[in-house]
Amino acid sequence: MRFADQAIVITGASTGIGRATALAFGREGASVMIGDIDDGANDTVAEIRKAGGKAEFRHCDVARGADCDALVAACLDSFGRLDSGFNNAGVFPRDLLPIHEMSDEEFDRIMAVNVKGVFNAMRAELRHFRQVGKGSVVNTASVGATIADPLMSAYSASKHAVLGLTRAGGLENGPHNIRVNAIGPGMVRTAMTAKWLEDPELAEAARHATVIGRPAEPEEIAEVVLFLSSDAASYMNGQIYLIDGGLTAR
Ligand SMILES: NC(=O)c1ccc[n+]([C@@H]2O[C@H](COP(=O)([O-])OP(=O)(O)OC[C@H]3O[C@@H](n4cnc5c(N)ncnc54)[C@H](O)[C@@H]3O)[C@@H](O)[C@H]2O)c1
Repeated sequence: MRFADQAIVITGASTGIGRATALAFGREGASVMIGDIDDGANDTVAEIRKAGGKAEFRHCDVARGADCDALVAACLDSFGRLDSGFNNAGVFPRDLLPIHEMSDEEFDRIMAVNVKGVFNAMRAELRHFRQVGKGSVVNTASVGATIADPLMSAYSASKHAVLGLTRAGGLENGPHNIRVNAIGPGMVRTAMTAKWLEDPELAEAARHATVIGRPAEPEEIAEVVLFLSSDAASYMNGQIYLIDGGLTAR
């Protein structure tokens, strides 16, 4: 029970990495406040409660600052505290396109959720952490924060921006007993990558790229988030931790 008596805000936990991490936090004793645009997050809450844990879901579009402020306020109202934030909500490109074929609308959609969404959630959490003098933030970036993929320019730019927010957040808050880190997953088996992993040709290319020979399961990402959010990671700040099976080691 590494997080007994603690409360965590998680964005984007109806499916995938966020859901697996919410369940893991719940198992470790944390009270979990989920913010998502998808009501499927109610299932995550139900599963945490079924296992004896505490969880709530609040509708939250991370692209809206007021929604993120209300999410943190709801966590404080429901659980009386906030110890960690896991800012994980994100969107993937609708189509793989070169820059010269991308629309304004698609670029703006990706930036609004992946960059402004992380900023909005961090800001709300950090305002509370500054008041109480402690806390941990983990942002979901990607290997796409350190390398680029062709045909995914906006996604890659958005994840590079998450790394910038993480580094700046770490520098600003480290002196105040607050740590800010990012995770950089490689290929993870979730709804986001299902389209790729179901296509035999793309799945084979992905299998080769992963080095380990398979995509990660969301639970393998969750473990790292829990570690980074725990006191065991007390000297880890302002960094990205890649969980990519060796994909970027080439
Ligand atoms: N799957 C991968 O291979 C992979 C690799 C690297 C990084 N990531 C990142 O991991 C994070 C989680 O992705 P996933 O793979 O679990 O995908 P997913 O699609 O299963 O989960 C994304 C979650 O974010 C929520 N969401 C989307 N837009 C939102 C918004 N505006 N406000 C609130 N919630 C919103 C969705 O409802 C969902 O619960 C994303 O930031 C993604 O970019 C995924």
